[in-house]
Amino acid sequence: MSAITLAPQLQDESYIDSIQEQIAAIIDDLIAQLPEPERLTSEQRRGIIARYSAVLEGNFIYWMTAAYIAVKSDEVRPILAENLFEEVRDAHPVMLRKFAVAAHAFPTDKDALSIDADLRNVRLFLGKLQGVQSVLTMAFFEGWIQRFMAYLADLAGAQGSSEREYTDVHGVCDITHTAELYRALSLEMAVNPISPDADLFEGVDLLRTLIIAIVQGPDHNAAA
Ligand SMILES: [Fe+2]
Repeated sequence: MSAITLAPQLQDESYIDSIQEQIAAIIDDLIAQLPEPERLTSEQRRGIIARYSAVLEGNFIYWMTAAYIAVKSDEVRPILAENLFEEVRDAHPVMLRKFAVAAHAFPTDKDALSIDADLRNVRLFLGKLQGVQSVLTMAFFEGWIQRFMAYLADLAGAQGSSEREYTDVHGVCDITHTAELYRALSLEMAVNPISPDADLFEGVDLLRTLIIAIVQGPDHNAAA
């Protein structure tokens, strides 16, 4: 009896592990592609910080809320709520705006509109309210943000800014968030499994495209 109940659990764990490894590989690839800050012009560095701010400041809490609304598991909601709690209580958007302004990289209308199509795709994906895919997308987002922080801080440093509260906070606390989000993914899969023909990585792929647009800017569209 115990063998029967144990078997699916073990399978799920290895399945989650393999998903986490795939996400880690996608993040590794994105980080490896980052251009050296000193090889960029000041305007290129400003653009990356500005586009990152344009996407993150107004959307991170919105997207985590979308995942919260989408999930069916009663055990997952407190995990996502804890993440939202910290975002709101510690006013992470205030930290990010302070970071961008200090680096003289507060986004302009051109910065925001240069990533508009890719941003819209992620918003529309989350609007489908697919629990598992939404949680996986946010796990990927947290993991990437955590890895991107040192680079973002380097960009700001090259722009003459020493403001580091945002990058310091996110380089640390998001490690826990990422682990909790994979636990949430496992719990949501058990309660609300995706259909066999659904694409588990739908949101991850769209967010990855948006991240490339943040880093590459308008050149991304011209090169595509
Ligand atoms: Fe945050």
